[in-house]
Amino acid sequence: MAIILQVENEINDKIAIEEAAKALAQGKTVIFPTETVYGLGANALDEAAANRIYKAKGRPSDNPLIVHIADFEMLDSLVLEISEDAKILMEKFWPGPLTLVFKKSDIVPYSTTGGLDTVAIRMPSNEIARSLIRAAGVPIAAPSANLSGKPSITDVGAALKEMVDRVDMIIVSENSEIGLESTVVDTTGEYPIILRPGKIGQKQLKEYVTKIEIDPGISNDNITPKSPGMKYTHYSPEAKVYVVEDRLRLKHLADDMVAQNKKIRVLCLDEDMELFSDYGLSLGKDIEDFGRNLFLSLRKADEDKIEILFCPKFTGDDMSEAIMNRLEKAGEIL
Ligand code: TXA
Ligand code: MG
Repeated sequence: MAIILQVENEINDKIAIEEAAKALAQGKTVIFPTETVYGLGANALDEAAANRIYKAKGRPSDNPLIVHIADFEMLDSLVLEISEDAKILMEKFWPGPLTLVFKKSDIVPYSTTGGLDTVAIRMPSNEIARSLIRAAGVPIAAPSANLSGKPSITDVGAALKEMVDRVDMIIVSENSEIGLESTVVDTTGEYPIILRPGKIGQKQLKEYVTKIEIDPGISNDNITPKSPGMKYTHYSPEAKVYVVEDRLRLKHLADDMVAQNKKIRVLCLDEDMELFSDYGLSLGKDIEDFGRNLFLSLRKADEDKIEILFCPKFTGDDMSEAIMNRLEKAGEIL
């Protein structure tokens, strides 16, 4: 069973952070908070430690891990080169929910990169995460802390329930602030390519680089995505998930399902509750709230044995695009 550590902030809880950092330095696995989702961490430079992550998650070994660093000094030894665009994006968005892919140096083991010659790196803005990495003194490989194929973990309750027997330590902290995983951008080519959408999307990134494209494999089933993780079924709750573009059509479909005695729920915003009053579940007042509460609500739907989850389509901004990407992967668009 994992050791459970209560950490409120990096100043009051120096001792707890030291203890977790020591475990990481010894090759153990630690679940820790980040601003995106909880991560399942281990020493990124230790092959055996990285392998423990795959085992704990039940994750296919060709799906590479993200390496988390505490400061810019940690970056240099991990990568072979840094493109001009990568420099600009790092300066603007680190620390924060942006992961950049670089050509890896020899010290990064292939177990961390799923056999690839590239390595994905991010500097989290969460203070506990950064203090932990700094105290460990090594970069920390950390995928989302969920079991492979399950929704990412954004509250420590889910981590305790799903992972307590599978890792060495769990840091208890607040719910994740953003709630969706980081944006992943490949910077090894001629121009940057978005491999996984997130809160920081094409609209924002475009302001800083001359050209940036979205990997077409993300949304087209006939093209293999460039990021290995994007080809696996992800984020799946037990319920069937349908995104419906037109809200009135959604209501119609939902009413039909209720008439067939199906247990359904419509994930929506406060403003939609009037329309979906009988079965709506508001995730908050705006799209940021929706993102923060999405994975929580997918897990809650499982607990409540919901059979069908509907969601109206959100568009127009980076966060909406990222949310739609997650829901598309969990289900289908009608
Ligand atoms: O917000 C996040 O990124 C969270 C927190 C814990 O930092 N981590 C996370 O890790 O979401 P994970 O393992 O669930 O997702 C990592 C994604 C996968 O889609 C993986 O394929 C991709 O990043 N990735 C990692 N290394 C890569 C590489 N070298 N080339 C292309 N894609 C890579
Ligand atoms: Mg994941």
